[in-house]
Amino acid sequence: MHDKTANQFLKPQTLCKNAQGNLSLGGCDLVELAGRFATPLYVMDEDTLLAMIGAYKQAFAAYPKTKIMFASKALMTGAIAKLFDQNGLGFDVVSGGEIYTLLHAGISLKNTCFNGNNKSLAELNLALDHHIDHISVDNFWELEQLNTLCAKRGMIQKIHLRLTPGIECHTHEYIRTGQIDSKFGFDLNSIDKALALLKTDYPHLNLTGLHAHIGSQIFETKVYDDEVKVLLTEMKRIQDTFGFALTELNIGGGLGITYTATDTPPSVFQIADNIITSLQKNCTDLGLDLPTLYIEPGRSLVGSAGVTLYTIGARKDIPNVRTYLSVDGGMADNPRPALYQALYEANIANAKQQDAFETVTVAGRFCESGDILMTNVRLNAPKTGDILCVYDTGAYCYSMASNYNRTLTPAMVLVKDGKADIIIRRQTYEQLVQNDIIPDRLK
Ligand code: LLP
Repeated sequence: MHDKTANQFLKPQTLCKNAQGNLSLGGCDLVELAGRFATPLYVMDEDTLLAMIGAYKQAFAAYPKTKIMFASKALMTGAIAKLFDQNGLGFDVVSGGEIYTLLHAGISLKNTCFNGNNKSLAELNLALDHHIDHISVDNFWELEQLNTLCAKRGMIQKIHLRLTPGIECHTHEYIRTGQIDSKFGFDLNSIDKALALLKTDYPHLNLTGLHAHIGSQIFETKVYDDEVKVLLTEMKRIQDTFGFALTELNIGGGLGITYTATDTPPSVFQIADNIITSLQKNCTDLGLDLPTLYIEPGRSLVGSAGVTLYTIGARKDIPNVRTYLSVDGGMADNPRPALYQALYEANIANAKQQDAFETVTVAGRFCESGDILMTNVRLNAPKTGDILCVYDTGAYCYSMASNYNRTLTPAMVLVKDGKADIIIRRQTYEQLVQNDIIPDRLK
């Protein structure tokens, strides 16, 4: 049995102080890891990943027709993909690069769904070449393109239609997707035209279900009830009006995590109970058979399993204003504070008990005033050379990393039972310039 508050982790499961007084994760001393692999360093705790996978499986066990598709945009690497695949999860992919990573890791696309509002023909072809389970078609252009590609191959492809169900959730506007004014999916007014085309013009597409995703870092449970109701009502209407008997429902991802002590997301168990109850009630009310349920969690599977280690460098005291401590990473390895005003918590990995706490602002090393990782954060006597451990960086940090200022993307290690395996190498300067071409006239 898993702890039913499993989604409320503020810190990874195996985080503790070791005998040396240092922070330890997965049985590995984080100060030692910083020394061995250099900083910035992403560290993923395998036990927390397994705990979250287990929590999702247990939470949805009451609805055996559930397929858990990891939203790989949150964190895609070969090793992470292997871990999820070996534990029975499928994947939501949104690019040729994510598909290629799966294939490169030896993972078939038989449990993969391809999402996105502007998939290229090359990406669609790659997915078709490798027999992807289904494609969530986002718009009219894609319907036509995909039908043509499938006609050329003489095949029929299983698809879902992505809808914008008109549900607003209270999360940051950049990560909200369910409202009518969204670049994603068909709105409820244009869906009929798509269905009519599917009936008459697109014989190479086999519509089996509907898909929606209402947003990310969601703390409300009711929005999922509403989403299930809207989508099932639509399925019933589509069945009655167009004769498509849809058997699959993909409700996307979005469950929030605890970045700071004031965050109070529901647990995966609460969310699952709500979703399953809503499915059963609405199917009974509408006279529909229970569909296969697809869920696409990203952040909630990987976010709390990751920390980022930095080394503290320069200190700048501005009397009566603030103290800045600069670290050796920032917006290139974690753009979330600059993009979404995201908040994080952190500790000094090598801090000893007797030290005194100080309020400081942690600045990144990039050439932008907005590159601030944490404002007014309480740290244990922070000083130059200390190792700063920022929590909850497992989702949307490595996957959104850049080479801004021509810095190198950090390494990532996976820790378990005292062993640290490198799963992403730190970039090198050679790799940084490997695609640079200097035309002859400039040589
Ligand atoms: N399914 C679809 C169709 C999605 O677009 C997303 C996320 C997910 C599933 C997974 O959502 P999650 O469970 O991770 O909330 N970069 C932003 C988050 C963008 C989310 C985009 N779509 C951030 O760092 O907060």
